[in-house]
Amino acid sequence: MYNHRIRRPSLLDKVCTPEQAARLIQDGMTVGMSGFTRAGEAKAVPLAMAERAMVDPFQITLMTGASLGNDIDRRLTEAGILARRLPFQVDPVLRAAINRGEVMFVDQHLSETVELLRSRQMGPIDVAIVEAAAIREDGGIIPTTSVGNSATFAILAEKVIVEINLSQPMELEGLHDVYIPTRRPHREPIPVTSCESRVGLPYIPIEPTKIAAIVFSERSDSPSANEPPDAETAAIAGHLIEFFRHEVKQGRLGMGLAPLQAGIGTIANAVLHGLIDSPFRDLRMYSEVLQDSTIELFDAGKLSFASGSSITLGPRMTERFLSNLASYKDRIVLRPQEISNHPEVIRRLGIIGINTALEFDIYGNVNSTHVNGTQMMNGIGGSGDFARNAYMSIFVARSTAKSHAISSVVPMVTHVDHNEHDVDVLVTEMGLADLRGLAPRERARVIIERCVHPLYRDAALDYAARAARLGGHTPHLLQEAFDWHLRRMRTGTMLDPT
Ligand code: COA
Repeated sequence: MYNHRIRRPSLLDKVCTPEQAARLIQDGMTVGMSGFTRAGEAKAVPLAMAERAMVDPFQITLMTGASLGNDIDRRLTEAGILARRLPFQVDPVLRAAINRGEVMFVDQHLSETVELLRSRQMGPIDVAIVEAAAIREDGGIIPTTSVGNSATFAILAEKVIVEINLSQPMELEGLHDVYIPTRRPHREPIPVTSCESRVGLPYIPIEPTKIAAIVFSERSDSPSANEPPDAETAAIAGHLIEFFRHEVKQGRLGMGLAPLQAGIGTIANAVLHGLIDSPFRDLRMYSEVLQDSTIELFDAGKLSFASGSSITLGPRMTERFLSNLASYKDRIVLRPQEISNHPEVIRRLGIIGINTALEFDIYGNVNSTHVNGTQMMNGIGGSGDFARNAYMSIFVARSTAKSHAISSVVPMVTHVDHNEHDVDVLVTEMGLADLRGLAPRERARVIIERCVHPLYRDAALDYAARAARLGGHTPHLLQEAFDWHLRRMRTGTMLDPT
């Protein structure tokens, strides 16, 4: 019955239940699992692991591509399985456990995890659990809606559990391009020279004898949790479009701009959505996650090609994508995240990187991860891979959060993910600060003028002016640099009542 899903007959005797497969995971193991931005994660085996841990407690190090859907991180956290987790997550229950110090979370650039494993600076991987659309005659694994780190996990692992998801259509075959860089120090250049480049295999090549278990599942990916665009995110998109128009007028960009990368979340998705009503055409994406906006841009005739590592869509767009898969397929490629996020390729293609900040400071340092410098939100994800190496690195944020109780522009960020040297342009719904070629004192003037909410503008100007009088290349009043954050912790708002 499942012959087209398991095309190597000798593997048919590896078929077992998720519970049987879960028993291959032992206490203390390092497990590499598929899944990137809630797409293509293994579903049945981790849930069976959570069930088992309730009666037979065990703990593991869990590595994935990025975040998982289907509440898997929640279920594994509640079952007490996660001793260590990397490189990214978005789950509120896991987040709380991380912030209580119960789960050791390693917040890592998404391009780096498998490099560290390959060079044995981390690992080894005991078991890889990979969701697949099918297994080929030669044992090759055909991934589903993400590639993430699955290929290298499966290649390096001692044993591989393949979870064939019958709800994922067979037409996904051919969407992927699995290229594994050669070993260092004699590595060859990665031959990706355009968004469209196909340089690898449409499957994960592994030694079939490593496949220790095959299970079937039928659970779908979780739909994306992005909110639809609103007035603020539309204003952010509007400022960016105006800026891009200016860049075209100056002859620095053409009407196709440059390959676009957009980060996860509501704001980045809404910014790309805004390009639908822009004059730009023949756009290309070289990104990591392809969200609803990618499909909308295709359908609007604006986007010619999209390269990513995963596809994460809302319910309506999933329906549209899957029922027209054939028409999108030759315009999309999914790659391993070390290639979608590779510094060499990002630098070569000249990407416009658009990522989201939790807060940024008056000099342009960006905090994307830590509320009050201590509480982990999600992780740096791929934003650092792109920010450091992009043709132009843009960060976007709403000017305030929590009904204006928090200013997203602060005197000094409480944690630095992207330092001022990696940040070219900052945008809030208030306006856009073009920081290229500006020194810190000039950056402060432009950022405060353009990006700060009027409720916080006078306080920001006052801080910058008094700091400037004290002197320094990047002037600060160290004794009050975090006063806004401390006031929020004390009174619930950063606003000064005086
Ligand atoms: N302090 C505290 N909370 C803040 C905040 C701040 N300075 N700024 C925003 N928030 C809160 C919002 O209030 C919101 O909270 P809620 O979920 O309780 O409503 C939450 O952060 C998300 O903000 P939102 O405005 O909805 O933006 P988003 O969905 O676009 O997410 C990030 C923003 C920064 C959290 C998200 O983009 C992220 O995790 N980025 C880091 C990783 C990354 O850039 N990856 C890209 C490549 S994978």
